[in-house]
Amino acid sequence: MTNQPIFYDTTLRDGNQALKRPWNHNEKEIIFRQLLALGIKVIEVGFPASGEMDFNTCSSLAQQAPQDVTVSVLARATKHDIEQAALAVQHASKPRIHTFIAMNPLGLEHVLQKDIETVTDIAVNAVRYAKSLLPANGEVEFSVEHFGDCRENLPAVLDAIEKVVEAGADVINLPNTVERFRPMDFIRMVEKVHERIGDKAQISVHCHNDLGMATATTVESFFAGATQLETTLNGIGERCGNTNMYEVAVALYNSDIHVPLRMNKFYETAQLVSQMANIPIWEKAPLMGSDSLAHRSGIHQNGANKTKGLKKGQYIAFSPDLIGRYDGEHIGFTGQSGKSALFDVFQKSGYPFTMEEAVKFLPAAKKLADEKGELTLSDLDRFYRTEVCHVTGPFELDSFERISQGKYALSFYKDGRFCEVIGRGSGPIESCVTALASLGVAIAIVKYEQQMLNDKEQESAEAVTMMNIRQNDKEVVARAINRSTTRSNIHAIFNGLNLLQK
Ligand code: KIV
Ligand code: ZN
Repeated sequence: MTNQPIFYDTTLRDGNQALKRPWNHNEKEIIFRQLLALGIKVIEVGFPASGEMDFNTCSSLAQQAPQDVTVSVLARATKHDIEQAALAVQHASKPRIHTFIAMNPLGLEHVLQKDIETVTDIAVNAVRYAKSLLPANGEVEFSVEHFGDCRENLPAVLDAIEKVVEAGADVINLPNTVERFRPMDFIRMVEKVHERIGDKAQISVHCHNDLGMATATTVESFFAGATQLETTLNGIGERCGNTNMYEVAVALYNSDIHVPLRMNKFYETAQLVSQMANIPIWEKAPLMGSDSLAHRSGIHQNGANKTKGLKKGQYIAFSPDLIGRYDGEHIGFTGQSGKSALFDVFQKSGYPFTMEEAVKFLPAAKKLADEKGELTLSDLDRFYRTEVCHVTGPFELDSFERISQGKYALSFYKDGRFCEVIGRGSGPIESCVTALASLGVAIAIVKYEQQMLNDKEQESAEAVTMMNIRQNDKEVVARAINRSTTRSNIHAIFNGLNLLQK
């Protein structure tokens, strides 16, 4: 076994044939270029005998392919298909004809209505004919269609494979055309083929995903002797699709296998293919799903935070950068989350917030999230304004106006009673504090910070004040938000006065 897999991409053939609207020439060319950008060296570009459009596209892509890229096209094991295939790839530097026929008992009896010996002869002749039409460096790939269903007649199929190899097949492809059984059953069959043909031909696997295990089967087949892995971008293909290239690549990479692809282009490729195929990426799709890097439970959030930036994350299977995904891990706040998540979501959304505040506001935030689900940006904004920056109580600010330099008029309600007073000081905060003190409300500001919220957009910038206010031996942390920096400060003092009463 080599320790480097060859990725054979069949997006333009198996993927395309399953689309609700198969791609036209230009669209295929876009995908072809993206495959080259990924570093794919064997590309199945289509099925020339299926029609004029695909024939022309296949021959155009064959001409455009770089010298080190093998261009493969599909052909049934018939004279006409093979001739069309040979014509379509004639200008490729490295042409390949991929011919196939079913050998599973069900297919032999009901579809082909032929015995295995007859089908073996057809396969052998197809391979010989394909080989005869290709230049010396041309390759022939032979697929035992429905190989995964050949459990009952495996000995006869192994004999057929041996004959096909003797006839000149360079690659023996083993498709799990319909995924019905355990990956291990398939892998044992791959091992048997490997035992039988050794290195006389390359072994390839081509798995469909009917039971959702195509990636597992493909990855394990590599360790059982298959060196060519047939996959598609985004896992598109017949029914539930083909094996997903990105998943196989990352699984092998994580297993210390060298993956000869530009994996950092995977994410952009997935977006492109999703758009062009008109198939959205499921939010929980491995690697690519919009929600696949999210942590919502307190335990997971804690583990994720504590291993952030390390080579390996406690709750993430790969580094998002590896696949060119730069949105990173997402911490979402729900009723299942904890204080570090609350801290994280406010911080990341640009709201000044401390861990002490996270502890304090956790019960209210959890209650809200229990009702609403994960808190959105607008939920967070509302919560910040109504819970964090607005405290009701006996004190209610009415107005605070500058009279002259160092002199301010303050009016407010205390337990519903209207109070008016003049305060003096070097600035508004000191004037407010002295005004309150003159009415017997003695407080001290022991810590003060102010910062701008949304300060990227000057017009909507708001000031957020944080103050530690002390009265006797009690200290509270008060916040307020306002477009005016002065009003933000004075509101914070009044929020603090109410907190001191609680
Ligand atoms: O799934 C399959 O069996 C195929 C073959 C044509 C290789 O796509
Ligand atoms: Zn297939």
